[in-house]
Amino acid sequence: MRSRREFLSAGIAMSFLGATRRGAAMTTSSKSCNADCSITELNKRFAQRDFRGITKDMLPTPCLVVDLDLLNANVKHLADTANANGIKVRPHVKVHKSVEVARRQMSAGAIGLTCSTIAEAELFSDAGMKGMIWTKQPVGRNNTQRAIALSKKDPTFMFVSDDAQVIDWVEEAAAAHNVKVRILVSVCAGLARQGIEAGKPAVDLAKRVAASKHMQFEGFMAYSGNAAHVKGFEARRKASMEVLAGVRESKVFALEAGLPVNIMTGGSTGTYNIDHETGLTELQAATYVFMDTAYFPVGGQDGDMERYNDFKPALTVLTTVDSQYHPNLISTDYGAKALARSTDIVKEMPWLKVGNGGAEYGALTWRDGEQHPKLGDLLEIYPSSLDMSTNAFDRYYVSQGDKIVDVWPIMGRAGAAQR
Ligand SMILES: Cc1ncc(COP(=O)(O)O)c(C=O)c1O
Repeated sequence: MRSRREFLSAGIAMSFLGATRRGAAMTTSSKSCNADCSITELNKRFAQRDFRGITKDMLPTPCLVVDLDLLNANVKHLADTANANGIKVRPHVKVHKSVEVARRQMSAGAIGLTCSTIAEAELFSDAGMKGMIWTKQPVGRNNTQRAIALSKKDPTFMFVSDDAQVIDWVEEAAAAHNVKVRILVSVCAGLARQGIEAGKPAVDLAKRVAASKHMQFEGFMAYSGNAAHVKGFEARRKASMEVLAGVRESKVFALEAGLPVNIMTGGSTGTYNIDHETGLTELQAATYVFMDTAYFPVGGQDGDMERYNDFKPALTVLTTVDSQYHPNLISTDYGAKALARSTDIVKEMPWLKVGNGGAEYGALTWRDGEQHPKLGDLLEIYPSSLDMSTNAFDRYYVSQGDKIVDVWPIMGRAGAAQR
C-alpha cells in the first residue's frame, strides 16, 4: 500500500473520497439504542422485511455493509460497456457469493455465472441459476461425483480441465452415469497455478476432449490475473494482449483442426474494457461489484494514473471505535477474525493506518496533528482481498445512506464443504 505521504501528494484520496484532512466529515457516532438492537429482534424484523427505522448504528459490528446505489451503478457500468464492446459477461461469484447480487448481474444481461468451487456452483444452481462455469477441474471422488451430478441436473453447467489424466477420470465417471459433460480447456495465461501450455498442448487436450464419448469441447479459459492489476490502462492493455497471445493461437489451431470454439473466457475487473480486443468472447469479472483496495491504484482509461474510477467502492466493513487509551492509536472491533489488513482504507479518513491488534481487535493509528476518530465512532473501512472478507461474514447489510434497506445472506457459510 502507498504511504500516507504518497497518498496525500497524489491528491487522490481527497478528491475521490470527498474528504479534506482537516474537517473530514466525521463518522457517525454510535448512539444509545432506543429500539431493540438485540440480534434476535433485528433478525425477526429482517425475516418480516420490516426495515423501518433501522440505521447503521443499530447493527452489530464488525459487519459488511453494501451501498446499494453504488453496487447497482457498478453492475450497470460493466454490463453497458461489455454490451457496447460486443463481449458477453459471465461474472465470477467468488467475491460476492450472493444470489441477490447475481440476480442483478443476470438482469443486466449476464449469460451465466462463473464459480470457483463445485460448492458455489451447486449453491447457485439450487437458487435456480443456469449457465455456470466452474473454473477448477474435478479431482478426487467427491469433486468428480459432484461435477457429474451437477452436469446431469443442469446440462448448461460446464467446467474446465488442464490435464489428460483428469479428462480420462471424468470420462469414466460420466460414462458410469451416462452423462455428457461440457468441458473448457484451461490454458495458462501468466498465473502459475493452473492451465496447460497454450498452442499444441492445449489443442491436443481439446482434441482428446472432443474425441471422448461423454464430453463436449466448448472452448478455452485463460484467466490473466497478473495483467489485471498492471498499473496504467495502456500498460495493462499491452500486458493483456501479450499474455493472451497463446490462447488466441490455441483457438486458431483448434479451428484448423475442425474443433468449434464456442467460448473464450477469462478477464477481470481490471481488463473489462480491454478483453474484447484480446480474443476473449466473455468476461469473468468479479470484484467490480464491490471493488477492492488492491484495484484503487491501477489507474483507468480516463488517464487518471492514480485512481481506478470506473467502479466505485460499494462494500465496507462497519466497525466501532471501542477503546482509546494509547497515544495516536484507537482500537476497533475489526480485527483478525474479520480479516482486517494493513491494505484496507478508512472511508473519509484515508490517512489512518489500519492495523490488526488481535482476533477481535483492530488498531487505527495516525500522526501527530492528523484528524482521528474517537471512542464511540462508527467507521467504515474499505476491505482488501474481498473474497476472503466475504467468506468471514454471513450476510450483507444493504444500505442507502444511513438506512438499512435489506439484508442478503452470503452463501456457503455452513462449513468448508460449502465454500
Ligand atoms: C479464475 C478467475 N476468473 C476471474 C476472476 C475475477 O477477477 P477480478 O476479481 O479481478 O474481476 C478471478 C479472481 O480471482 C479468478 O480467479
